[in-house]
Amino acid sequence: MTDTRVLSEDFYTRAKQIVARYPVARSALIMLLHDAQDEVGYVDDDVIREVGSVLGLTPADVEGVATFYTMFKRRHPGKFLISLCTNMSCTINGADETAAALRDAVGPEHETTSDGVCSWESVECLATCHWAVAAQVNYLDIPYLTPDRATKLVSDLKAGRDLDEILSELRAAKSLQEAKSG
Ligand code: FES
Repeated sequence: MTDTRVLSEDFYTRAKQIVARYPVARSALIMLLHDAQDEVGYVDDDVIREVGSVLGLTPADVEGVATFYTMFKRRHPGKFLISLCTNMSCTINGADETAAALRDAVGPEHETTSDGVCSWESVECLATCHWAVAAQVNYLDIPYLTPDRATKLVSDLKAGRDLDEILSELRAAKSLQEAKSG
C-alpha cells in the first residue's frame, strides 16, 4: 500500500469481500468500478489501474469496460449531471435542439460549469421513450426536455433552487406539446 493510491483502505477491504463472492475475480469488475466511482466520483486512469491491480487485469481490460458503459464517468461531473437521451424516439422529437441548448447553457458535453454545478452528457435510451425528449438529472427522470426547458433547468440549478421543486414543475407537463407551450 503506497501513499499514491487514490482509493481508500476501506475500498480495498470491501473489494476483497466482493471478489470473494465470485468464482472468477474478473467477474467482480463492474461491482468494483461502481464502488470506486461512489468513493472518488469518477473512474480515471488511476482508478482504472488500481481496480485492475485488485483483479489481476491490465488497465486496458478495465478501461474497455469503464468506457463501454455511460454510467461510469471518466472525470468528475458537476454537482448536477444532466443526462440527455439521444436515441431514436428522442432524436425524432428534438434531442439535437435540446443538446444545442445544453451546450449553450453548460458548455461542451462532459465539461462542468466553472461553478462546478452542472455538466451534461448524451446517453442511450433511458426507457422513458413516451417522454421524449427524455432526460435525467442525477438519474432522476425528466419528461419532455425541450430547449427552453433545458435552459431554464440549468439556470434553476445554478441559482440553487430545490431539485425536488424543479422536478415536480418539469413533470407537470403532460405532453411534448404542453411542454413546448410552457
Ligand atoms: S429513445 Fe429516448 S428514452 Fe428511449
